[in-house]
Amino acid sequence: MSSLSRSAAACQRILRPATARAFSSTPSLNFDKVGIIGLGLMGHGIAQTAATAAATKNLHSSVVAYESDKIFLDKGRDRIQSSIDKLVKKDKMTWSQADDVLNKIVFTTDRSALSDADFIVEAIIENMDLKKNLYSSLGKECKAGTIFASNTSSLSITEMALASGRPEKFVGVHFFNPVQIMKLVEVIRTEYTSMEVFDKTVAWVGDVGKVPVKCRDTPGFIVNRLLVPNLMQAILLLERGDATTHDIDISMQLGAGHPMGPLHLADYVGLDTCLYIMEGWVKDFPGEGAFVVPEILKQKVARGELGRKSGKGFYYWDGEKREDPVGMDEGVNME
Ligand SMILES: NC(=O)c1ccc[n+]([C@@H]2O[C@H](COP(=O)([O-])OP(=O)(O)OC[C@H]3O[C@@H](n4cnc5c(N)ncnc54)[C@H](O)[C@@H]3O)[C@@H](O)[C@H]2O)c1
Repeated sequence: MSSLSRSAAACQRILRPATARAFSSTPSLNFDKVGIIGLGLMGHGIAQTAATAAATKNLHSSVVAYESDKIFLDKGRDRIQSSIDKLVKKDKMTWSQADDVLNKIVFTTDRSALSDADFIVEAIIENMDLKKNLYSSLGKECKAGTIFASNTSSLSITEMALASGRPEKFVGVHFFNPVQIMKLVEVIRTEYTSMEVFDKTVAWVGDVGKVPVKCRDTPGFIVNRLLVPNLMQAILLLERGDATTHDIDISMQLGAGHPMGPLHLADYVGLDTCLYIMEGWVKDFPGEGAFVVPEILKQKVARGELGRKSGKGFYYWDGEKREDPVGMDEGVNME
């Protein structure tokens, strides 16, 4: 077999649609004890998702939820409690089921509780040095069979895998926000990930009720690789004065069927986050033409105009409510 057809066959193996597995009702019971590191926006949702599968499908004996600081541990627990309370109030769960879910989670600031976990999902802040330090320690502390999975949105899985000292047992599991609602999880493999580890991870994602898709370790994986350059192109349209904020957004809603326009979405995600992701890609992949950083994005972030969270970005915001475009599209002349 030529190296080209070998890679094509490998690609087919890796990229085979995984939806059938996602809807399987028989859990594969690959991971008895699961650990979650970091209980912020993403981690608390991932812990809740795993604990729900543990309580309702007997998928795991326990879910260890770890934060290094007690304040953030308590905050994570409160977030899970409040999310479960909402489900009970909406009649999607009884109080007794809610207790079962919470009882499956062991909240701890003691990292040694993770040492015998079968599968650990890491959702700490998006900082490569912090993540590499963590994985280098975990690689020494955890049993040989523990699989590590990073929820990073934009960092190299390969770099973290090598830092862990066990790259064959390292994958990416990219959940989407809000985790409790969003169905998709991108499962990422590097050139070192063993097929067995990858397949078990894909199966686990299906078992916890999500839809897994498979991707190689490439910048942005599938969704963000397509989405973030699209946001940048929308910002460049505005920067060049080719179209107004309103017209760019309404075009993608009414012409492409998107639920919100790209400038609205950039504000929603956070302009600092958009800038951070794209600057990282431009630095690491200077030859990739789709990766560009618009000047006005840099200027807005430097002025503290970060979108929804700061009250001003491409739009003004009143809390969660989007208001008028900033500057009412100054500088755009359609004559
Ligand atoms: N926010 C999103 O929409 C989103 C979507 C998909 C993936 N992600 C990725 O998920 C990860 C987490 O993002 P987030 O938005 O939940 O961040 P966050 O800031 O809300 O939460 C991070 C948590 O990690 C904790 N933490 C930091 N260092 C730690 C350490 N060494 N040990 C234990 N806990 C530690 C912090 O206390 C905090 O609670 C990032 O890699 C991010 O790229 C984020």
